[in-house]
Amino acid sequence: MQQWSRQQKAAGRRIAFVPTMGFLHRGHLSLLEEGRKNGDLLVLSIFVNPAQFGVGEDYEDYPRDLKADGALAEKAGVDVIFAPSAGQMYPRGYATWVDVEGITELLCGASRPGHFRGVTTVVSKLFNIVLPDIAFFGNKDFQQLAVIRRMALDQNMPLEIVGLPIVRETDGLALSSRNSYLSAEQRIQALTLSQSLAAARQLVSEGMGDSAQILGAVRALIEVNPGPRIDYLQICHQFSLQNQPQVDADSVLLLAVYLGKTRLIDNCFLLPEAVRCEG
Ligand code: PAJ
Repeated sequence: MQQWSRQQKAAGRRIAFVPTMGFLHRGHLSLLEEGRKNGDLLVLSIFVNPAQFGVGEDYEDYPRDLKADGALAEKAGVDVIFAPSAGQMYPRGYATWVDVEGITELLCGASRPGHFRGVTTVVSKLFNIVLPDIAFFGNKDFQQLAVIRRMALDQNMPLEIVGLPIVRETDGLALSSRNSYLSAEQRIQALTLSQSLAAARQLVSEGMGDSAQILGAVRALIEVNPGPRIDYLQICHQFSLQNQPQVDADSVLLLAVYLGKTRLIDNCFLLPEAVRCEG
């Protein structure tokens, strides 16, 4: 893979890159579409990265369908699929970890210790192998994107990181490979996530600016339902991910909710884009 990339770059071609764990859906395809527009060549990686799954998490069960992914990738104009094995990525004697401090300890990092260390380690390895000029990530995993931006900046990685909007089902549920775990009943309960975001945005649009008040109202809304269990529900600054007592143009509402054993995440900015840009 690296040899191919070096040859292409020597020939002056620009490489766009979309890292994934496969089981592709429209969220992944939106990244590929943007990648196609922004590079001469488009590389997709498919690797279910054992290093980012905790003990007792769903590494073994994580959905995989390389055949379907191949067909979708071809349609999306992918030039190369890089799909290494775990043994190739982490051979015997592997000992090097990339660890971003601070922002990895909050939110998902608090519930999934070691998760982001696995993500940053694999993403930096993938960058070193694929040698992209530009790489695309979804806002769906908002904290992951913030962590990867931090890593790329801190490590002087010579590429551009682009974040793209969340792709949703028509009823609002953010697309995720893990949605395939949901029972019919849980699929309905999963609407709690996007509905909570909408409720919070509504309160803000009506003039509510106190984070504790907004979070209290949203929490109450979620808790009338017996199914969903809140892991976290917070209003944070988009870059530092620090809690914000008062909503402003940089405020993002982030939440993680358990439906049975399945943990889903979602997020949104609390003020409309226009206001955010002016801010
Ligand atoms: P995965 O969950 O497969 O996601 C790959 C990319 O697709 C991520 O950047 C993610 O944010 C984006 N994505 C997922 N669902 C989306 C949606 N509904 N709308 C828009 N984008 C969406 O994230 C990972 O894999 C891994 O942690 C990885 C970065 C590949 C490292 O192993």
